[in-house]
Amino acid sequence: KDTGKGEYEHYMLKEISEQPTALGRSVSGRTDSARGEVTLDGFPPGAFDGIERVHLVAMGTSYHAAMYTESLLARRGVPARAYMSSEYAGSPPPEEDGTLVIAISQSGETADTIAAVRAARAERTMVATNVVGSSLTRECDDTLLVRAGPEIGVAATKSFSSQVATLSLLSERIRRDVIGEPSPDAEEFLSALTDLPDHVRQVVESDAAERVADAFADSESYFFIGRGPGHAVALEGALKFKEITYEHAEGFTAAELKHGPLALVTEETPVFAVFNGGADDTETLGNATEIRARGGPVVAVASGETPDLEETADRVLSVPSTHPELVGVLANVQLQLVAYHAAKRRGRSIDKPRNLAKSVTV
Ligand code: G6P
Repeated sequence: KDTGKGEYEHYMLKEISEQPTALGRSVSGRTDSARGEVTLDGFPPGAFDGIERVHLVAMGTSYHAAMYTESLLARRGVPARAYMSSEYAGSPPPEEDGTLVIAISQSGETADTIAAVRAARAERTMVATNVVGSSLTRECDDTLLVRAGPEIGVAATKSFSSQVATLSLLSERIRRDVIGEPSPDAEEFLSALTDLPDHVRQVVESDAAERVADAFADSESYFFIGRGPGHAVALEGALKFKEITYEHAEGFTAAELKHGPLALVTEETPVFAVFNGGADDTETLGNATEIRARGGPVVAVASGETPDLEETADRVLSVPSTHPELVGVLANVQLQLVAYHAAKRRGRSIDKPRNLAKSVTV
């Protein structure tokens, strides 16, 4: 296993750059896009018969992958809800037949997530993890490997992309059993997943994020907004940014802005707006306009599908066009790079930020 930094200055940049390979591993051999079918080892057709709802439990970056997955499942007609493991462990929902609990954990060792699984009153438990043989694989009925490869940087990067890719396959697989047929656009979705490694490579090879990090290096707060999967990415963008730059960064749903956070928006607070490339972009454009009207600089993170960006945003971090459910993965890679370059400019301890641990086992 290659766990050295090689040509890279930091593990974080190495792991960001490894995402095309990691994603390829997460997806390869698991799809038949021509038939719109997903095949996951250990989960043959009918494996999810009788499942009526999914509870996703996770912490940190994995919680953002859980939020992303909640959107993917809901759109497939499968009721789903993401919980922070600690909250779930404290007051687990009542026992109901047909509940599947899915723990998401890169390490498989997070104490809060183990506690959530132990407290769960669900019919079945499953873990999506990057580590074979980790504690959660022993605690749960089933294991789904995300196959991102070893991740050393405390700030999770490639594990998030691989979690979302793996759980999007699982979402489609669950839908097949629960609803009885694939999603109407399953073929397009699976073919976009197959192309995702190439699309991520294009993002990693561009220097646009570094230029944005430089342009807003003196700001006092950084905000991130989005809706649906873009909301999960906004929260993850803010988490990455605060973890490694030590600057104040916060994520919101785009709609929430005018219910409070807009009071904080000034010329000194850049707002990163994540666009999904679908029908909800119009509303997010409206939110971006409200920010601009208060003098706040807007950085749109979007694919070519989103119209009128040049007029609405101060800067655009563009990502390749893909299925609207996957634009968020690409947008997230842009935000990883923004955080990385912003932290590097400030001379931070990027791979081992102060006060943080890779795996919180207590
Ligand atoms: C710590 C790490 C985060 C990680 C979280 C959950 O807080 O610093 O990067 O997202 O734990 O870890 P897990 O291994 O359960 O995904």
